[in-house]
Amino acid sequence: MSVPLFDLSRLGTQVDEAVREAALRVLAHRGYVLGAEVEAFESELTAYLGGGHAVGISSGTDAQLALLMAMGIGSGDAVISTPYTFFATAGCIHRTGAEILFCDIDPATFMMDPVSLRTLLSSLQRDADGVLRSPKRNRIRLIVPIHLFGTCCDMDGIAAVAAEYGIEILEDAAQILGAKYPSKDGVKSAGLMAPTSYVSFYPSKNLGAAGDAGVALCLDADMADKLRRVRNHGMEQRYYHKVVGGNFRIDAIQAAVLRAKLPFLDGWNATRRSNAAIYREAFNASGLLDRVHLPSEPFHESGLRDHHIYHQYVIRLPKRDAVMAYLADQKIGCAIYYPVPLHLQECFAYLGHKAGDFPASEQAANESLALPIFPGLRPDEQQQVVAAIKQALD
Ligand SMILES: Cc1ncc(COP(=O)(O)O)c(C=O)c1O
Repeated sequence: MSVPLFDLSRLGTQVDEAVREAALRVLAHRGYVLGAEVEAFESELTAYLGGGHAVGISSGTDAQLALLMAMGIGSGDAVISTPYTFFATAGCIHRTGAEILFCDIDPATFMMDPVSLRTLLSSLQRDADGVLRSPKRNRIRLIVPIHLFGTCCDMDGIAAVAAEYGIEILEDAAQILGAKYPSKDGVKSAGLMAPTSYVSFYPSKNLGAAGDAGVALCLDADMADKLRRVRNHGMEQRYYHKVVGGNFRIDAIQAAVLRAKLPFLDGWNATRRSNAAIYREAFNASGLLDRVHLPSEPFHESGLRDHHIYHQYVIRLPKRDAVMAYLADQKIGCAIYYPVPLHLQECFAYLGHKAGDFPASEQAANESLALPIFPGLRPDEQQQVVAAIKQALD
């Protein structure tokens, strides 16, 4: 029996009906571009998050690009991020004309390691005027930590290093809507832990649109105004362009679909968490824990319900490729997020990196494997996944 990696049809008829109704509503009122539907989504999202400003954007990638443009980041600037992630983050930095500087990840969590961040920053020089510069003399403007797979980066650790060096943070919260972080200053919502951040609503995300969509989030009202201009060609008044922006507008139909699905999000996240608990038990019982590393839960002890929302269930195993081939043979869905770290991507060869530069990222790319975790996955399917991994490894 095959097991899909992801199956949207299992969200159920109640969701399907709500989505259909939302889409039909937009088709009936024909307000296709921005307008009331988008504004309602933005305010429902900030209410869900418990603060901030939300600006609906055409995709997560465009949200990051719009944020970088609104901050005026470009040629002469440098932005720090990690190489083990989806391409969008580094791609957007490159597209602004800024330099990309990488620091390595923590091998246990797959995310930015504050120790590597500090090592990188401490290797850089300050100008006579106190500006921290990259070896290519670009000004260090921003740090972009990426919350991967459903739990948060060590934001307290990263924020402490960033504050020491006076550098601002932009959170890549593309994968993590609904997660909470037990900061030393109290519980925070992912996406509201830095002045700016963004979320993706790609259909396979925990909250997915019916196509591409995203949102830029910020804590400051002036930044939200800037973002609204940048998403609409830099216009406030039609055909008068204050700044250069782009067409980064979210479709009203996507905003309506997201409004319909948002009330279900916490329930789906809880289901993903209970699926993770089923895997944990099954891997434990299978005797595989000497050969398979389960996802870490760095904030488990916090007692917070949403410390992990399991966007992906990513295990690590040295024999990854053989196991993956076996699972494919058994028609069990699985995927590698992400097979080639960004510093080794062909398009970034100009940065001059080589294999060995970011060992934890390279190891994660070689050993990680995502298993099905979506809401609607059945316990017997999970047992089948674990049994197949055991067969492959025994
Ligand atoms: C970590 C990360 N950053 C950025 C993005 C880009 O979002 P989108 O696909 O909506 O452009 C994604 C989505 O896949 C992501 O997972």
